[in-house]
Amino acid sequence: MKKEKLAAIRGMNDLLPAEAPLWEAFEARTIDVLRAYGYQQIRTPLVEHTALFARGIGEVTDIVEKEMYSFVDHLNGEQLTLRPEATASVVRACIEHNLLYDAPRRLWYMGPMFRHERPQRGRYRQFHQVGAEALGFAGPDVDAEQILMLKRLWDVLEIGPVRLELNSLGDAEERAAHRAALVAYFEQHGDELDADARRRLHSNPLRILDTKNPAMQSLVAQAPRMIDYLGEKSRDHFERLQEMLAVAGIEFTINPRLVRGLDYYNLTVYEWVTDRLGAQGTICGGGRYDPLIEMLGGRPAPGCGFAIGVERVIELLREALPEFARPVCDVYVLHQGGATLTVAMRAAERLRDAGLDVILHAGEASLKAQMKRADASGAEYAVIVGETEAAEGRPMVKALRSTQTTAPFVQQRQVALAELGQAVATAIAADGNEEISGKN
Ligand code: HAM
Repeated sequence: MKKEKLAAIRGMNDLLPAEAPLWEAFEARTIDVLRAYGYQQIRTPLVEHTALFARGIGEVTDIVEKEMYSFVDHLNGEQLTLRPEATASVVRACIEHNLLYDAPRRLWYMGPMFRHERPQRGRYRQFHQVGAEALGFAGPDVDAEQILMLKRLWDVLEIGPVRLELNSLGDAEERAAHRAALVAYFEQHGDELDADARRRLHSNPLRILDTKNPAMQSLVAQAPRMIDYLGEKSRDHFERLQEMLAVAGIEFTINPRLVRGLDYYNLTVYEWVTDRLGAQGTICGGGRYDPLIEMLGGRPAPGCGFAIGVERVIELLREALPEFARPVCDVYVLHQGGATLTVAMRAAERLRDAGLDVILHAGEASLKAQMKRADASGAEYAVIVGETEAAEGRPMVKALRSTQTTAPFVQQRQVALAELGQAVATAIAADGNEEISGKN
């Protein structure tokens, strides 16, 4: 009986080889930028105790209330959760390993996150983030530096226009005063609230400001604004940040309704938004979370960071895919089995010693069929080991794509095994140079 096919879980995607070069290019460029600002990598587990996220992100947030993949470990009864984000994990790791004992830290991470949201374009249940966390820095200079770093990244990636929206959430006391004013305001307009807003009125009224309901937009627009409740210190932090951004030539708009979906924030919050991705246009979100380290049991220390939604940025890069595409190998090695395979294997290893990417034909096929595979692989050169070449220890080298009639190996010719790697590597480098000078 034919077995039923199994499919991936809804909202969790495979990354297929055709798209891998795009991800690899994105990752390499991003890591370069993070390193240029002194950030070091940290990797934390995908699974953590549920309590970490409940305490870190906040019990009354969408993430903790309804989006976490939580389960009981049947072997020991522990309550566990697939990480929905990594800030709480990074802070946990810093406390656990005492990473802040002598100096502040700039850290970055990259990897999958899990949220049980309704999947749509740009929103998945397993998605990827690149994030950065600066721990132990209190001033707005580090907020500004992270924003500058992101701007540099967008430029390096050439993803086109992205807007920066900025807000300040003040400190706990200021938020409490704003919250009281907000609750009073919404209570006055109780009949205009939708069910969601009514539910949130006393648990998390700030999130009402985030509503997507068109009927509530004008009510929300006139609600008391957090910025009007900022005390002197918070206002100073916010103003200094804005001055630094202005000096650096970074444009931004202040969005007094920007509240973010996680409870750990204070002072600076921001999002980078593009209009080219439809409803899920936020490609990066972040801000300051000074209370979090203490909330998770550490010695009080300030923190600030961001996370980029990788799938969304990749979507913006997709048009440029052909630029990132590259052949699977530089050289394809053909043989006729038996003793020729042994020589072909040695030839392939010599080519790899010279730094080349090599596919050695696997299995039995006619040389003609192998040549077709070689062509399709995108390789620049074929190295052919037939009976004669094997007996002489001199594989045949043939150019597959060189457009230079004077290039080496356009007329195929034999090369001794010991010189093979260098000869082909030199020819490939020369082709590359010809192409570059041909373009100029
Ligand atoms: P977040 O706003 O929840 O923040 O997520 C950051 C980014 O991840 C979003 O702007 C979006 O691009 C992407 N993202 C979120 N959910 C999904 C999803 N379901 N599918 C695809 N992409 C998604 C955080 O996670 C904070 N930890 C950021 C942070 C770091 N704040 C301080 N440090």
